[in-house]
Amino acid sequence: MSTIEAVRGDITTQRVDAIVNAANSGLLGGGGVDGAIHRAAGPRLLEECRALRAGSLRDGLPVGDAVATGAGRLPCDFVIHTVGPNRHAGQTDPADLARCFTSSLAVAREVGAASVAFPAISAGVYGWAGADVARIATEAVRADLAERGGVDLVRFVLFSEELLELFEARLAG
Ligand code: APR
Repeated sequence: MSTIEAVRGDITTQRVDAIVNAANSGLLGGGGVDGAIHRAAGPRLLEECRALRAGSLRDGLPVGDAVATGAGRLPCDFVIHTVGPNRHAGQTDPADLARCFTSSLAVAREVGAASVAFPAISAGVYGWAGADVARIATEAVRADLAERGGVDLVRFVLFSEELLELFEARLAG
């Protein structure tokens, strides 16, 4: 039976098997949680991302896809990078956002990560409303774990009280 929880906190301090990064298609870092993860992980993470861009991900990581790397100095084993839809670029399809969560869980199962922490993907720079992200994220994760299992703990790590309350309300329902 999988546990799904929501906490207020910094995803870079979470002691889980994998943390999910709200990256961009370029995969070479950025602001927000992407910047925080790269800062905490150290240069090794960027080296691994550069290697992906030079190899299997020559054209970048498409929206809704996910890929795992090591975690550098972070207190976890893997960083799973995914790219959320950018509302400011007209990417408003909820299915794209849901796929960020299900693709990341599929990668977690592939690498054997039993505990996974997610940020509120697309709820920052990419401009999606927190309430929509909370609904889409919790529905996608619940359905995926009910159907496939394979991950014991999913933790949504929220950076604001408002987002925490939105996710908690969805998980209580
Ligand atoms: N821990 C947890 N959550 C965090 C952290 C952190 N250390 N830092 C920021 N957040 C939160 C933000 O407050 C927001 O609620 O993560 C959520 C996602 O915001 P962004 O990081 O802006 O991600 P996103 O909206 O998906 O935009 C992605 O922003 O940082 C760039 O390179 C990134 O281009 C990409 C885009």
